[in-house]
Amino acid sequence: MKEINIGKIKDRFSQELKGAKSDNEKKKICKKYIEDELSSVFVLLKNISGPKRATIGKDANNLKQFILEKMNDGGEKKREEREEMIDVTLPGESVKRGSIHPLTSLQERCKRIFANCGFSIIDGPELESEWYNFDALNFKQDHPVREMQDTLFIKQKNREKLSSKEKLLMRTHTSPVQVRYMEKRKPPLRIIVPGRVFRNEATDSSHEINFYQIEGLMVGKKISVANFKAVIGYFFRQLFDSNIEIRLRPSFFPFTEPSFEVDVSCTICNKRGCSVCKQTGWIEIVGAGMVHPNVLESAKVDPTKFTGFAFGMGIDRIAMIEHKIDDIRLFYGGDLRFLKQF
Ligand code: DAH
Repeated sequence: MKEINIGKIKDRFSQELKGAKSDNEKKKICKKYIEDELSSVFVLLKNISGPKRATIGKDANNLKQFILEKMNDGGEKKREEREEMIDVTLPGESVKRGSIHPLTSLQERCKRIFANCGFSIIDGPELESEWYNFDALNFKQDHPVREMQDTLFIKQKNREKLSSKEKLLMRTHTSPVQVRYMEKRKPPLRIIVPGRVFRNEATDSSHEINFYQIEGLMVGKKISVANFKAVIGYFFRQLFDSNIEIRLRPSFFPFTEPSFEVDVSCTICNKRGCSVCKQTGWIEIVGAGMVHPNVLESAKVDPTKFTGFAFGMGIDRIAMIEHKIDDIRLFYGGDLRFLKQF
């Protein structure tokens, strides 16, 4: 019977392994020694008995372990090499961060200023009924003033048979929330309503199919135009700068009487005249007025006991003036080159 010499096998294996030119070749050699050489040793071992069998068996197992370790060596080394290759002096990849949309940040600033003078911030539905959007706000049925606001109506089965509380539309302004709120809470009250509104308009640089408004409402005993002037003046001085001036001009809205437009002195040219204020020195920003008695009655508030003022302004327009943006559509285009500037 052939003498089994594990030491010799080990020497031959080491010799061959040294000659290997690649990891692949090394692997092949290891495999060959385990599957051929050692397997036949284990087969032969069956015919051997006594202490010899135990020593050879132990040596053969040790050799198998030794070869297996060599076989994994290549992989281990590779990983180590790869890890060593990391150059910690290279600048890291920066994490791309988004930024707050200019309309959102302006809305937040407005909310904070009003909250600081005791106004609650209230929400209302974007999908609204004709009742809240028009009727309750004293828009007379079939009156041309309804056409002032190009409305997106919702398709409904047998729409003509529905009541105005059931007829749906996308709200054209945030004013309906005035009535919704007064139905639930009795005066005295002070709220602002930031929110999105919709108009069925052809878009251009100053018109969008949706935009943002902030509505304001204060109702109580003996609330007057003087209170309104104080609040709106405070707001703009906080928002823009402390030297800003305010003026009221007569206007018309069905839900206020009297109604006015609020102009603020141009923050860009300081009333000297520029393209933003169209050389007038003033910018028209807010629609406002004293809440019409019919509106108070729609919300079951007694107009002989309470009075109030209301106002509405476009966030987009204020943001455009503030950042000198000449196209409202930029706010909604999602163009990163624009958004990254804020
Ligand atoms: N809702 C009006 C609009 O969208 C703006 C407005 C004007 C709101 C006068 C008011 C107000 O509360 O009193 O054009």
